[in-house]
Amino acid sequence: MATIITKAKEKFFQMVDDFGSDPYHLRPHVPEVEKWAKHLLKKVPEADEEVVLLSVWLHDLGHYPIPTKIDHAIRSEERAKEFLEAENYPKERMDKVLHCVRAHRCRDALPNSTEAKIIACADSASHMTEPMYFAMAKDDKENNHEFRAYAKMERDYRDLAAFPEIQNELKELYEAWKKLIKSYEKIDLK
Ligand SMILES: [Fe+2]
Ligand SMILES: [Fe+2]
Repeated sequence: MATIITKAKEKFFQMVDDFGSDPYHLRPHVPEVEKWAKHLLKKVPEADEEVVLLSVWLHDLGHYPIPTKIDHAIRSEERAKEFLEAENYPKERMDKVLHCVRAHRCRDALPNSTEAKIIACADSASHMTEPMYFAMAKDDKENNHEFRAYAKMERDYRDLAAFPEIQNELKELYEAWKKLIKSYEKIDLK
């Protein structure tokens, strides 16, 4: 019998498949978030593993289809709720998962549980070990936009602070990304 985590994983890949393309690179991103979440779970063994892993697979469920005026964290929360209710997931645990999903961006809703802090940290950490900043910088250069990668890196690095050990582990990589993006920005390729 498939576990609820396996079903959440299938639900996530189905959402990407239904959209047909993957402009936000969610197919490699969410498995990377899972790796970081597992890494964090080893450091915080008192955290609820099922809540964390369910939240990994549900946190970006609201990304597609685009464009949408609704923040994807809000849409992810709505879809996660529908999914968990259909699975008869216990209400008290569902609320914990929904908070992790809703607060994963550390924007209007801030993580206030250990599990939500793990998700927000794993999401930010995964951006550092994926090619996302470079893809963002390249897209901005090609479209003559202001470079968003710096602000994104700053926010991600700030959000790692809930786990200073992880922030420290990624410090060198974060500084290397900043340097790389700065060098790339100077290249004038018409
Ligand atoms: Fe997200
Ligand atoms: Fe994410």
